[in-house]
Amino acid sequence: MRILIVNGPNLNLLGVREPGIYGTEPMESILERLRRTFAGVEIDYYQSNHEGDLIDCIHEAAYGAVRADAIVLNAGGYTHTSVALADAVAAVNIPVVEVHLSNVAAREEVRHRSLLSAVCVGTVTGFGGRVYELGIRAVL
Ligand code: DQA
Repeated sequence: MRILIVNGPNLNLLGVREPGIYGTEPMESILERLRRTFAGVEIDYYQSNHEGDLIDCIHEAAYGAVRADAIVLNAGGYTHTSVALADAVAAVNIPVVEVHLSNVAAREEVRHRSLLSAVCVGTVTGFGGRVYELGIRAVL
């Protein structure tokens, strides 16, 4: 089983970015824990601040040379704005789980709408760094 975790814009700054909202744990530490927890699962990671690169990565995971069985996607701000990213998720034949560290429903109104929710198999939001683990469990 191969799971691909995809993080969108600004999530490269996890750990230092608005720690009151997103916590202080860097992604490297979250990934370390995930790989320990799911020892039998290959967990790959990709982060980009660029919409097109995220779309390419999703296409590649479904149709490229090294395919994933599922994607756990935190699209960051693109969640609320990107029709193109939602189209990419709809275009692939593997399950995509939408995750958010913060409880987006309890934040500013602009974050209440997700263009991804309708094309993902489900959403995990608001449990900090644990959302990646919960997202993986959902597709195992
Ligand atoms: C986020 C929530 C988004 O609204 C925000 O733009 C992010 C991170 C989260 O993980 O809580 O960049 O996806």
